Amino acid sequence: MTLTICLIEGDGVGKEVIPAAARVLSALGLPLAFTAAEAGWECFLKYGDALPPATLEAVRAADATLFGATQSPLSKVEGYRSPVLTLRKRFDLYANLRPTRSLPIEGTYQGVDLLIVRENTEGLYSGRERREDDGQTAITERVITAAATERIARTAFQCAMRRPRRTVTVVHKANVLKEGDGLFREVCLRVAADFPQVTVNELLVDACAMWLVRDPTRFDVIVTENLFGDILSDEAAGLVGGLGVAPSANVGAGRVAYFEPVHGSAPDIVGRGIANPIGAILSAALLLDHLGAAEAARRVERAVESAVRDGVRTPDLGGSANTSELTDAILRRL
Ligand code: NAI
Ligand code: MG
Repeated sequence: MTLTICLIEGDGVGKEVIPAAARVLSALGLPLAFTAAEAGWECFLKYGDALPPATLEAVRAADATLFGATQSPLSKVEGYRSPVLTLRKRFDLYANLRPTRSLPIEGTYQGVDLLIVRENTEGLYSGRERREDDGQTAITERVITAAATERIARTAFQCAMRRPRRTVTVVHKANVLKEGDGLFREVCLRVAADFPQVTVNELLVDACAMWLVRDPTRFDVIVTENLFGDILSDEAAGLVGGLGVAPSANVGAGRVAYFEPVHGSAPDIVGRGIANPIGAILSAALLLDHLGAAEAARRVERAVESAVRDGVRTPDLGGSANTSELTDAILRRL
């Protein structure tokens, strides 16, 4: 049976790394068919819509979607909404899975294998923001519900069950945010009771940020709310080579899922052909896992590790290879 993958390059270096990841997917000898769709800032300028109906339809119709990156304006633009936030909402992709694994690169942490399970639909990203009439006070509401916490906690514990260390760290700030994070913590610990084989512990988010830098190898699965997960996962990426190598998955209860590098459009390096394709390629590996092609996913990961070990690295990793040279090296090792 042929599986359909929707490719959305988006903006900036998304146009450089998604074609690289598509080359890797095409080289695996799997029955894959590709469709393409548009989204992002350029798409908004062209059609007045950052996520047109045709793109939503292509995402719905595909077995999985590989997304590059988008560029978002820093201030409010009438009619513009972040396409990734819209996708997450529209298809209720409530779990953002962000694995961090060491690569064989000198000067980066070795032995790291952690997974941040980030709640993807609420918290401070619920869109409940307003500016008071005087324009001098802005209020952003942070929404935490028991229902959304329960499902993300279940996802985290289920992930932990499939990993050797079977440990979940619940990360929160319940000492200060007694209502929101109090509820998040309470529900996570309640769900933990359904997984007696999993070791559960908890950590305040600021301490977690510190421990990630001191010793990231101590973490297995981290479950946390939206903003904390966003920040901690970029931090975690920084420990093993940076944003250029970090993949992510956005999944929910339904069939729709999309996979994307954690990085954005990288305006400072766009157009130079030096973007690191590894974040996108490892996202493609997560996509393969999701579609049940675990063996192909491991092949991709091993090829990435081998290329990096042999010193084929883009400038963000201290090397001089460009995007296509690193991709070629990965393809040769498949
Ligand atoms: P960014 O991730 O685009 O760049 C941060 C730093 O990482 C830059 O120095 C960049 O050169 C480097 N970098 C990123 N990807 C790289 C790659 N593949 N290879 C080598 N180096 C890489 O984040 P920034 O600069 O904060 O945001 C730029 C734009 O991207 C903004 O408009 C932002 O809204 C958007 N963005 C979009 C995301 C998404 O599509 N999911 C996620 C994060 C930011
Ligand atoms: Mg981020």
